[in-house]
Amino acid sequence: MIKLGVLVSGNGSNLQAIIDAIEAGKLDAQIVTVISNKADAYGLERARDAGIRAVHIDPTIPGTDPAVPSFTYNSAIRDELLSQGAEYVVMAGYMKLLGSEVLEAYPMKVLNLHPALLPSFPGAHGIEDALEHGAKVTGITVHFADEDFDRGPIIAQRAVEVLEGDTPETLAERIHAAEHELYPLTLQWIADDRVTVEGRRVRIQDQ
Ligand code: GRF
Repeated sequence: MIKLGVLVSGNGSNLQAIIDAIEAGKLDAQIVTVISNKADAYGLERARDAGIRAVHIDPTIPGTDPAVPSFTYNSAIRDELLSQGAEYVVMAGYMKLLGSEVLEAYPMKVLNLHPALLPSFPGAHGIEDALEHGAKVTGITVHFADEDFDRGPIIAQRAVEVLEGDTPETLAERIHAAEHELYPLTLQWIADDRVTVEGRRVRIQDQ
């Protein structure tokens, strides 16, 4: 069983997929905390509904806690993760660059999900960018995060075909459906200790 800290900024449908996979017995994990930079992120509500600790950490008000003179936003995230015993950090629609405080505390233990086949279409609009570019195939990527957006070693990818009449909404629907399957599956590979990193190459051992 692995202990996960999940970072969200918005809807949290991937958080929900992870919660559902755990409840269905498909993922041997426990979510120990869900953290958001946005107080009104629906992901926080999903966590509370599932009885999971949900924490808003405000990136805009540093230094307000006199007991923690060196308070910074990313050290507050790290401290929350460590204090709750998180072993892995799962970014699920977390729309900020994660600081070195967290990455150094969790080397090769921070995962991100991107709605395109990296290194194509990085950034905040992977779905729209693929469609606009005229790509015939796009997809999703689960990767370890490093200090750059959408760059770390790739753990898993799935292709999603772009159809003739696709709009950003219809394509997003199929992208999200693929994400909701792949992210929990990838986490289960980690729970099974099947994932090793050699430079940029991530190997998934056979079961
Ligand atoms: C997903 O498409 C993910 O690839 C991207 O942000 C979106 C989050 O969706 N990083 P949700 O908040 O999990 O519904």
